[in-house]
Amino acid sequence: MSALFEPLKIKDITLRNRIGMGPMCQYSSHDGAATDWHMAHIGAAAMGGTGLIIAEATAVTPDGRITPGCAGLWNDAQVAAIAPVNAFAKSCGAVIGVQIGHAGRKASAARPWDGGAHLADDNGGWPIVGPTGEVFDKDGTRLNKAPTAMSIADIHAMTASFVAAAKRSLDAGYEMLEIHGAHGYLLHSFFTPLVNTRTDAYGGDFEGRSRFMRDTVAAVREVWPDRLPLAVRLSVTDWIDGGLTIEDNIQMAAALRDLGVDMIDCSGGGATPAARASVGTRTADQVGLAAQLRRETGVITAAVGCITDAKQAEKIIASGQADIALMAREHLRDPHVALRMARELGVDPKPHLPQQYGFYMG
Ligand SMILES: Cc1cc2nc3c(=O)[nH]c(=O)nc-3n(C[C@H](O)[C@H](O)[C@H](O)COP(=O)(O)O)c2cc1C
Repeated sequence: MSALFEPLKIKDITLRNRIGMGPMCQYSSHDGAATDWHMAHIGAAAMGGTGLIIAEATAVTPDGRITPGCAGLWNDAQVAAIAPVNAFAKSCGAVIGVQIGHAGRKASAARPWDGGAHLADDNGGWPIVGPTGEVFDKDGTRLNKAPTAMSIADIHAMTASFVAAAKRSLDAGYEMLEIHGAHGYLLHSFFTPLVNTRTDAYGGDFEGRSRFMRDTVAAVREVWPDRLPLAVRLSVTDWIDGGLTIEDNIQMAAALRDLGVDMIDCSGGGATPAARASVGTRTADQVGLAAQLRRETGVITAAVGCITDAKQAEKIIASGQADIALMAREHLRDPHVALRMARELGVDPKPHLPQQYGFYMG
């Protein structure tokens, strides 16, 4: 018996197993619309037995993209481009979700393999926004473009853009919706005191700093069908003094749970250059924090960070540290990681695969 290969029902959706693919920007969209790359990238994981696939950070407005190659859901052409990918993933037995978000003051950057630095407005970039006018990296040369501090009207308009993208996500065939509340992007940058020094209703104490995230989640829950799961990715710690702690995030997760959030995806870091990165070897420490958040809130959680091995993933689920083991980079190394782990754990992979593959598995 494997806990990792037990199905998981969340609302009306059943995952065939507890293996998830974490959201990963592919920087391969055209004007925010999916390309053949997405069919191959998402399709491979769906064919390989992954239970839950969370599609990459998908911007709710054009200026919310991290790079010009990032995905978006602010127009109907983008829905039309991604819908066949989602239909294909579903036909393979995977549940496909999407992470909608806004990159805030980290937007308007070059692709990682082009250096990842902010792009000037006259060189492929665009004006950016944030909780204040403070730049992400004032001492560096990479991400030092100045954002415009959002007005309260801007904040309300942004929540409306999240709602519009949520409706488009449904039209596109996604069955799970994740709001990106991590990694120093817009919603996290409002929540963390490392960035948010506002003195209005959207700053100050926990109530003020969490307001944008809470209001946005509540508005999205109104339009995202009750029968489908809603998730939020949090940076469950900022990793540095003066930043958000696991206790702050437990309080946030409980508030989001009470607003109808079904799952918390427990990531970390990314608020400032000094806060530990959201990708890297030390993300492994996040699994323990995910376990604490699950214990103290009773909410369904996904753990992420350096999960690469079948026994490791099995232990995370069997010991109750998390409900879903999300793997990001391991899916790049091996898109059929679920099939591999089933075989390593002595589990019959057949029920986890489309019949074109499963029929031949002995
Ligand atoms: C290429 C790449 C793109 C990523 N894009 C996103 C993203 O769009 N949204 C997000 O929340 N995290 C993103 N991440 C972070 C991963 O989802 C994950 O949290 C992190 O890589 C740690 O997990 P891992 O050790 O399994 O790779 C990305 C990571 C990689 C490697």
